[in-house]
Amino acid sequence: MTAGGTTLIYARIAGTGSFLPQRVLTNAELERLVDTSDEWVASRTGIRQRHIAADGQTTCDLAEGAARAALAAAGVEPDEIELLVLGTTTPDLIFPSTACLLQHRLGADGCAAFDVNAACSGFIYALSVADKFIRAGTVKTALVVGAETLSRMIDWSDRATCVLFGDGAGAVVLKAATEPGILSTHLHADGGYKDLLWNPVGVSVGFKPGEKNAGVRVLMTGNEVFKVAVKTLDRVVEETLEANGLDRHAIDWLIPHQANLRIIQATAKRLDLPMERVIVTVDKHGNTSAGSVPLALDHGVRSGKVQRGQLLLLEAFGGGFTWGSALVRY
Ligand code: ACO
Repeated sequence: MTAGGTTLIYARIAGTGSFLPQRVLTNAELERLVDTSDEWVASRTGIRQRHIAADGQTTCDLAEGAARAALAAAGVEPDEIELLVLGTTTPDLIFPSTACLLQHRLGADGCAAFDVNAACSGFIYALSVADKFIRAGTVKTALVVGAETLSRMIDWSDRATCVLFGDGAGAVVLKAATEPGILSTHLHADGGYKDLLWNPVGVSVGFKPGEKNAGVRVLMTGNEVFKVAVKTLDRVVEETLEANGLDRHAIDWLIPHQANLRIIQATAKRLDLPMERVIVTVDKHGNTSAGSVPLALDHGVRSGKVQRGQLLLLEAFGGGFTWGSALVRY
């Protein structure tokens, strides 16, 4: 495509990949841990099971599995990566970043590599950053990852949160192209909602002394988060369509953050999209935070549902609050 005689550069998804830990934790097993039921969890959230990282298996391990699959699908070698952006809220270490750990594992040393912490919107944020590097002509090939081991910061005695989350990772390889590609991304945040969904410990405010991972746990006022999420996602979907001059019926696939089936259904309704045109993985993966959108995208691609040339709307909402979307010609 050209504008005023200048050839525009777009970021195109050259390959996708994902990785899930082997261990599956079902709702029935959770019934033995807390006062809950498969019926309650499935009817309120759509979740039936989630994957849980093994002892010693880290966010970087999951990210590596997803990254290698995406590189293979794209036919790209690690030494071709010029930028690595990784969305996570559960990094292996405080520093170096998980992106740096992953870069070295892959053998992509030398390229820019950094983490983005935007909770469940982490992948959309990371994708938007990488898209802008490519559009600016700064890099030609980027690896974008969303990876989490949320199970490590869940209070397994709190039924309000432990039934919701799971571990997993997804990745995409972006390549510069003259045809779209990523058409637009839209990022937002409102730190005023901090207390509705957060983990209130850290390096600077401190951890509780004397216990392993003491106090490191997700706190959430679920029903309040639910209401804001539905309204906010409606707004960002409208914003994305408007920015591209599109009618809502133009979307081929909705690839949403997988937190709650009822939130996903509300967004689909807004788009007048039948659920057959929505990629749903929340039943099998639970909420994998920054991992969820790229996991769902890879599932859509590998299942043969998502086809080249189709128009995809990716969106996410999470702690911060943060939220965002990406409109993609796949
Ligand atoms: N099993 C059985 N009962 C439960 C459970 C459970 N696991 N959890 C809560 N309940 C009870 C509550 O105690 C409450 O009981 P009460 O009426 O006696 O007080 C009742 O169920 C209703 O609780 P609500 O919180 O009002 O239930 P709701 O229908 O809102 O569903 C849920 C809760 C599933 C958490 C929902 O609010 C939700 O999905 N919220 C959005 C979460 C989200 O989208 N997060 C996204 C970002 S996550 C991130 O960024 C890391």
